[in-house]
Amino acid sequence: MSTPAPSASARRPAYRLVRRPATALPALRADELQRYVSEHVDGPLLVVGGPGTGKTTMLVEAVAARIAEGVDPERILILTFGRRGAMALRDRIEARIAGDRGRIMHEPLVRTFHAYSYALLRRAAAERGEPSPRLLTGPEQDLIIRELLAVVADPEAPDAIGWPEGLRPALPTRAFAQQLRDLMQRAAERGIGPVELARLGERLGRDDWPAAARFLREYVAVLALRDVTTRGSTAYDPAELVRAASGLLADDPELLAAERHRLAYVYVDELADTDPAQIDLLAQVAGGGKPLVAFGDPDASIYGFRGADPGAVSAFPAKFRTASGALAEAITLHTNYRAGASLLTATSRVARHMRGP
Ligand SMILES: Nc1ncnc2c1ncn2[C@@H]1O[C@H](COP(=O)(O)OP(=O)(O)O)[C@@H](O)[C@H]1O
Ligand SMILES: [Mg+2]
Repeated sequence: MSTPAPSASARRPAYRLVRRPATALPALRADELQRYVSEHVDGPLLVVGGPGTGKTTMLVEAVAARIAEGVDPERILILTFGRRGAMALRDRIEARIAGDRGRIMHEPLVRTFHAYSYALLRRAAAERGEPSPRLLTGPEQDLIIRELLAVVADPEAPDAIGWPEGLRPALPTRAFAQQLRDLMQRAAERGIGPVELARLGERLGRDDWPAAARFLREYVAVLALRDVTTRGSTAYDPAELVRAASGLLADDPELLAAERHRLAYVYVDELADTDPAQIDLLAQVAGGGKPLVAFGDPDASIYGFRGADPGAVSAFPAKFRTASGALAEAITLHTNYRAGASLLTATSRVARHMRGP
């Protein structure tokens, strides 16, 4: 669109017009795309691009633009995956805005979904005058799981859970406790409770899942007892954290309204690595046509094995609609700034031999 028409000057070299792949937007050059994303301030926007296409750079530029416009950094929420990712992003934003205005009073909030959820739970507890919630550590969880499993491992004791006979020798092992914790965590991320877990197991012909579902019910009950008897504060299983924050907002419309009001702009990096629980929380605080820009890789979810849902990117436009109910706008980035040409050729050669998208 910005290429001058060849007829403007007959003596200039001829320009070749190249049709770009169809997107929801007219084709834009990299710098125009950058500006377009930076200037986006109303409603949801999805930016899709492979690694090195400048997504995180665009996010940083957009946040810097909001701050330059005078938006209170504390009203900007930036969510990303993993503690290391959040730290790296915080550094990039800090470096970028320090260049703009020297030292600033407040930093924008860069959080993982877990840290954001925990902060919500803590704030709610403080407002109610309750003690601050705490997190169960992995070893604490394993200890509870192994204590519960040990009851069953006693050959004299009746097995209330009804583990399949073939699994009984594995019950006292550390590896089994860890696998069980992993299964319960995956279930929690998907908002799957004991009833649905049992039903899924039956449907998929897995006789260990209905047993795991009965175990899950017992585990949750034991956790609830511990909360009351140990420190007087609620101890959350980290896998439950995001669902707990969602539940809190759903039960407390005033808290939800205050949070939605507080958040003027929400940015999400690494959208492909979010799980359904995180998407639900995002919809609560930033759905309904709020200014929300999400950046995602089209088909590379490195955390898929941990419960991330690769469909999060493709489902975004329908899940996060504009205030009038239209699909969120989506743009696709095609220029890779990080990898050299030879690396790109090699990766696409490898990718051709792989199944899936
Ligand atoms: N428009 C651009 N022009 C030149 N280099 C860019 C541009 N956008 C990003 N880069 C560089 O490309 C690299 C990858 O960018 P990044 O934003 O981390 O990509 P992504 O988040 O999509 O993986 C970085 O070194 C960045 O500085
Ligand atoms: Mg990135």
